Amino acid sequence: MSIKNVSVCLLLVLRASSEVRQFFLKQASGQDCQTLQLGEKWISQSPITCQRDCLSLYSENCQSIIYNSQTGSCTPGSIAFGPIKKVTTSIPETGSSDKLYYVMQTIPPCNTSNNFALYDVCGTSACLYLSTSRADNYNDARTFCSQMNSRLVVGNTMAKFSLFWYTSKTYINDNLYTGLQDIDVEGKFVWENGEPLSYEQKQYIWHDGNPDNAGNNQHCAIAFPEVSSKKTTLDDARCDLRRHYICERCSQC
Ligand SMILES: *[C@@H]1O[C@H](CO)[C@@H](O)[C@H](O)[C@H]1NC(C)=O
Repeated sequence: MSIKNVSVCLLLVLRASSEVRQFFLKQASGQDCQTLQLGEKWISQSPITCQRDCLSLYSENCQSIIYNSQTGSCTPGSIAFGPIKKVTTSIPETGSSDKLYYVMQTIPPCNTSNNFALYDVCGTSACLYLSTSRADNYNDARTFCSQMNSRLVVGNTMAKFSLFWYTSKTYINDNLYTGLQDIDVEGKFVWENGEPLSYEQKQYIWHDGNPDNAGNNQHCAIAFPEVSSKKTTLDDARCDLRRHYICERCSQC
């Protein structure tokens, strides 16, 4: 499977001293991608000049721009990600004629044996295996991934979390484990790469009222995209039930 195509691709070449840097700016289709505003907007001639000035003001933090071709309005943005319902401050706003353009993030190498493939959402990509049947429990899912030189998918940034969500919903559409659990210390959720949840993630990845460790028996974060098409957040749930899973290739795991 190849990387999903997006409609428009603009090439921007910046000459900073003698160094030549190239950026591919892609236009997101519809409201499929969003971003966070980095600062005040200004008027610019084109998406390319907008991105160039965004980069000189915010350097690498500028990973996307919102540009309106009618008004020339240029808004600097952070890394782009797919819609996450709980992030209420994201741009572009629904119904606006502003367009989002994003820079492709570094594409990881993808060894496609064992049916791994590259998936992309709003410029962030990962080399993933999507389960075709349920694992008996979290540990089995973890073992299946590790036997394929991979780990349960880590959604430790907004962009990677939205990539996880998009692939779950689009290709699995059934409840599944993600690489996030608090098996060792109750209440301390960690990703499979050992990272704890960031302050920001604690705000946006959980479904309302979760995690609640109901029955003192819920130590695995699960997604169930099939239940509600609008739901984009996780619940804590039992680790001993049969569920799908997604593995992610990683260099040291
Ligand atoms: C790709 O992965 C398979 C299975 O994990 C492994 O046997 C193979 O050596 C890998 N190929 C490369 C080029 O790394």
